[in-house]
Amino acid sequence: MAKKRLVVGNWKMYIDKPEEARSLALALRRKVRGLSGVDVYVAPSLTQVPAISALLESSPIKVGAQTISPYTAGAHTGGVSAAMLKGAGAQFVIVGHSERRAEGDTNAVVREQLIRTVDAGLVPLLCIGEEARGVDGEHFEVIEEQLTSALKNISKNTVKKLIVAYEPVWAIGKRVEDAMKPAQLEEMTIFIRKMLASLLDREAALKVPILYGGSVEAQNAASLIKEGGVNGLLVGRASAGVDSFIEIIQAVK
Ligand code: PGA
Repeated sequence: MAKKRLVVGNWKMYIDKPEEARSLALALRRKVRGLSGVDVYVAPSLTQVPAISALLESSPIKVGAQTISPYTAGAHTGGVSAAMLKGAGAQFVIVGHSERRAEGDTNAVVREQLIRTVDAGLVPLLCIGEEARGVDGEHFEVIEEQLTSALKNISKNTVKKLIVAYEPVWAIGKRVEDAMKPAQLEEMTIFIRKMLASLLDREAALKVPILYGGSVEAQNAASLIKEGGVNGLLVGRASAGVDSFIEIIQAVK
């Protein structure tokens, strides 16, 4: 299992002014310098990817995109292809985020997006997560279906680069008290690890980092990692502020 922890910031549509995005990136660059034991990635809005990736070029922070077109090229108005993202400076892509799934990205689309991402030489961060929890364990079925659809018979190259983020939809965008509890998370981390081992080469599956996302703050960050058994965190709201994001990074390193 990957030892180094990973904290990914998903800026969503929180920062609309380019100068605010730039000052957040500059502050992160300063504060992350010299930190060891943790990798930091950020996903600004698409229009900010070129400027932020240029700003962070000489820093260890990787810059990525929040989504991608499932198509390679052609007549797809509004689409942004993997090659375009790469040209804009992106190094990774968040694929299958629940907020994109809610806007129509099906499991089949997510698989195409994953393939396009890897074919362009970018790292895919595959998001999975159930919308609600029933009493009969249906949430495990949802996860199984999402993982199987995205990863069955996928290329070895994809497996080498893959990062999985488990984000229960019911825990996203809430207060820290509403986040998943570490013990609940541990059960799901074990299930995901088993699923990965059955879908992929066993050895390779062990190396896939699994992240947790959903109302992460400095308060719950360390226990989610330690007790929840994940390799890192995908952070939304708290990643759009320097202090709140740095506190999380400090808490997990
Ligand atoms: P949140 O978002 O930290 O604001 O809950 C997480 C995510 O959606 O990636």
